[in-house]
Amino acid sequence: MNGRLVRAVVPDAPPLRIRVDGVEVSAYSGDSLLVAVLAAQHVLRRHEISSEMRAGFCLMGACQDCWVWLADGQRVRACTTIVAEGMHVVTAGVPGFPQT
Ligand code: FES
Repeated sequence: MNGRLVRAVVPDAPPLRIRVDGVEVSAYSGDSLLVAVLAAQHVLRRHEISSEMRAGFCLMGACQDCWVWLADGQRVRACTTIVAEGMHVVTAGVPGFPQT
């Protein structure tokens, strides 16, 4: 599947396997969650208030536009969180978090 971001150079290293909303996608060591998700799909998440689709904005930890969850309920900023083998990213929020 092609995403919003296209890798100019694909690393020689074997890919890591992560899941995004239950779907397995490839990532590479050193990728941020934001890069890994946007290399696989066109949007990162839906905004909590307006329901707009979001893909991050600043990409450097300043704007707070890229908060997602891990399957264990931890909330993380996708642009400043480095992927790890087996991570499961949840983009739609977890039970109890405000949804529109
Ligand atoms: S994209 Fe701005 S804080 Fe992550």
